[in-house]
Amino acid sequence: MRIEKNYDLSGMNTFRMKVSCACFVEYESVEELAALPWDSLPKPIKHIGGGSNLLFTGDFPGTILHSAIKHIKYVDMGLDEVPVIVGAGVCWDALVEELCGYGLWGAENLSLIPGEAGAAAVQNIGAYGVEFKDIVSGVSCYDMIEHRKCKFTVQECRYGYRESMFKEADGRYIITSVLLRLSRSKGPNLSYKGLEGIDASSPQKVREAVIAIRRTKLPDPAELGSAGSFFKNPVVSALDFARIVDAAPGVTVPHYILKGGFIKVPAAWLIDQCGFKGEREGGAAVYDKQPLVIVNESGEAAPQDILELEHRIIAGVRQRFGVSLSPEVEHII
Ligand code: EPU
Repeated sequence: MRIEKNYDLSGMNTFRMKVSCACFVEYESVEELAALPWDSLPKPIKHIGGGSNLLFTGDFPGTILHSAIKHIKYVDMGLDEVPVIVGAGVCWDALVEELCGYGLWGAENLSLIPGEAGAAAVQNIGAYGVEFKDIVSGVSCYDMIEHRKCKFTVQECRYGYRESMFKEADGRYIITSVLLRLSRSKGPNLSYKGLEGIDASSPQKVREAVIAIRRTKLPDPAELGSAGSFFKNPVVSALDFARIVDAAPGVTVPHYILKGGFIKVPAAWLIDQCGFKGEREGGAAVYDKQPLVIVNESGEAAPQDILELEHRIIAGVRQRFGVSLSPEVEHII
């Protein structure tokens, strides 16, 4: 276990904001987590994962917790559906690489997503037609109110598009491990536009194709700080969609029809149409290959630069299309 005072968080957030916290705690087991001196830790207490989906808007006055529970246990490799228990601190993409290497289907479309397994379960990460909820069957947690271990089934997690019960519970449950189910025989999911025609002969081949696509669209976190998609794709009613169509005469509006007649419109398209690609504020910029992403272009961007771009984009899209974008990135104040 590691407990540090006045800890520099610049290496703990992929936006690379130069912020610090009063106290930083990293633990390696559920037992270490349970034994923390809870009463004496500076408040508030906030748990983070790989810091790849958050924006620190300034120095954090309390305690940042981070999991270093890093086991990957294959419960029974002989089954067709292989149960795998994964510690919350495992790097998500290292896990996907290992699963694909064993020829297990299910996680390959979620390749190259930054972050850790615990955060994947909070956020219900998704890409290329697959979401975390499709491969998880249970989540183990530590309850911060009752100070005891607890478990949830996938139904109890109430997963939706980048949503879960854990987000609603607002930090009550610290995820300690997840139980995934990967398949030896399922085969690929190529439903997402853009995956047609790839070599899908093995999970590893699909992984390679997904990585190649992501590299053309998304910034490499090693080169350019960002938090991936900054906004969620809005889901609108048929009436609101008609308004969007009217506001873009002569242009085909990309969209996906969902259950219940609702329509998902790519936020990237709305932002692009408003001319925000390449827009700058201080050291921050709207990424020119995927305008859903805000990047720390100079490496010196301040949180306020990113917030300013966020507000400008929300106001611009609302004015032109009548749609209110919501950030996907969590703001930590
Ligand atoms: N588009 C434009 N201009 C652009 C780029 C895209 O108009 O410059 C439009 C196009 O119509 C394109 C559409 O946006 O067809 C969708 O783009 P893309 O397939 O890249 O996906 P996305 O909806 O923008 C979502 C996820 C990504 C995930 C991709 C692939 C959200 C908020 N984002 O992006 O997730 O990788 O699909 O499945 O749902 C993340 O969450 O951090 C993330 C990167």
